[in-house]
Amino acid sequence: MKINTARFVISNTDITKCPEPNMPEYAFIGRSNVGKSSLINMLTNHKSLAKTSGKPGKTQLINHFLINDDWYLVDLPGYGYAKTGKTQRMKWEKFIQEYLEKRENLLNVFVLIDSRLEPQQIDLNFMGYLGEKGIPFSMVFTKLDKLRPGQKGAFYPRYKREMLKIWEEMPPHFITSAVDTSGKEELLDYIEEVNGMFEG
Ligand code: GTP
Ligand code: MG
Repeated sequence: MKINTARFVISNTDITKCPEPNMPEYAFIGRSNVGKSSLINMLTNHKSLAKTSGKPGKTQLINHFLINDDWYLVDLPGYGYAKTGKTQRMKWEKFIQEYLEKRENLLNVFVLIDSRLEPQQIDLNFMGYLGEKGIPFSMVFTKLDKLRPGQKGAFYPRYKREMLKIWEEMPPHFITSAVDTSGKEELLDYIEEVNGMFEG
């Protein structure tokens, strides 16, 4: 799929203030600093449509971007940021859970995972939660460019072994880099395919 237009629509913490749920929507979520905002910029050919930062905790709100006047991309705040206090974390859980569980046009959640790390309990728990709630998701491995050549073939089988202890089968997965644009076509083609199933 070709991206012709991408524009920011609205930021908020309140699902009732999100845009009308009349177009397909995809959310990007994962640990703080995993590369959610960078991936959105890479997919939409923008340098700074979504705000990125070297420091975790940059994205704090539900951010809607309208793509090709046809579907929404949503940038979400990351989880697992150690400096976030308990009150802040509870607030996060409340509005993100509400968004994930109630947003009726949300067709797929992309769970971003740092390809350099061993499978992390927090990510496995989060995917477990999505599974329990019946929320469709895919896995997106990020920062492929940071792996040494020898590691590139090894991390996915390792992750798969871990996942198959819990899951009967693997969800769709994508292997990406916001730096060298690996995985871009595959991810956009997948979105295009899922868009085709949306009945607004
Ligand atoms: P929060 O909004 O804080 O939850 O973070 P985020 O998941 O949106 O991460 P963000 O896109 O802000 O990126 C965090 C850091 O990782 C930034 O310094 C990015 O430049 C870097 N980064 C993101 N994706 C990649 C990638 O594919 N390759 C490399 N080398 N760096 C990346
Ligand atoms: Mg972000």
